[in-house]
Amino acid sequence: MSETTTRTAIVTGGARGIGAAIAERLASDGMNVAVIDLREDDTADVVGRIRAAGGTALGIGADVADEEQVAGAVQRVADEVGAPTVLVNNAGVIRDNMLFKMTRDEFDTVLGVHLTGNFLMTRAVQGHMVEQKFGRVISLSSTSALGNRGQTNYSAAKAGIQGMTKTYAIELGKFGVTANAIAPGFIETDMTKATAERVGVDFDDFVKAAVSQIPVARSGKPEDIAHTASFLASEGSGFVSGQVIYVAGGPKA
Ligand SMILES: NC(=O)c1ccc[n+]([C@@H]2O[C@H](COP(=O)([O-])OP(=O)(O)OC[C@H]3O[C@@H](n4cnc5c(N)ncnc54)[C@H](O)[C@@H]3O)[C@@H](O)[C@H]2O)c1
Repeated sequence: MSETTTRTAIVTGGARGIGAAIAERLASDGMNVAVIDLREDDTADVVGRIRAAGGTALGIGADVADEEQVAGAVQRVADEVGAPTVLVNNAGVIRDNMLFKMTRDEFDTVLGVHLTGNFLMTRAVQGHMVEQKFGRVISLSSTSALGNRGQTNYSAAKAGIQGMTKTYAIELGKFGVTANAIAPGFIETDMTKATAERVGVDFDDFVKAAVSQIPVARSGKPEDIAHTASFLASEGSGFVSGQVIYVAGGPKA
């Protein structure tokens, strides 16, 4: 199929931040885009921006960690905007706490969204990919996979996503499906704002402190991740699979 074939992409957690930027970028690349987030109302802004720019978008409210809601959402995408062959597993939450204070619920919630959610979404979409003999699974990992203070739960989830990605790549490769992970460093979004709030630091100072550790001497923006996702979703990236691309302005966190 040529670069002009219209693909349908699903972006989870696409109502804001990195997911919204990816959704808009894939739409401007010419894909139909389904934005899944917890509440359908929250997807209205990004869906509206995509439509205003001449694209095709659908907003759906679903919890990626809920098997029935995932099945319903993927069916709606296939019925209303076409069989999904690009999946961006981006939905995420943080429940940071030091190990000695972390509750079982904080641990389970983070693993539930990132790992169970990734598994349920990818399992639900892979059939469409196999049928079309084309697929791109792109999952958001993080530099926190290498370990990060206060993030026992999140680092486990983000390291786990790297393992799942490599397994998807091995199992689905012969069907024209690639699977890769993007591991962002510090990206300015509501998530990093929430972290600054939790540690009691003004966001501007928090960004400055992060930038002082980043070789390219700036913070990351959602568009930096969207650009990488665009490459991994493209027709021409079919020989890149099972990889983790650190997008962190330098070689390490
Ligand atoms: N911001 C960063 O610096 C950074 C760095 C590395 C990795 N990441 C990862 O990138 C992804 C996006 O991060 P962000 O900064 O844009 O976060 P964000 O908090 O701004 O947005 C996350 C979105 O996911 C949605 N979401 C949460 N749980 C969900 C669920 N169960 N089902 C469906 N949607 C759900 C939220 O409603 C929200 O719209 C996450 O996976 C995050 O872990 C972010």
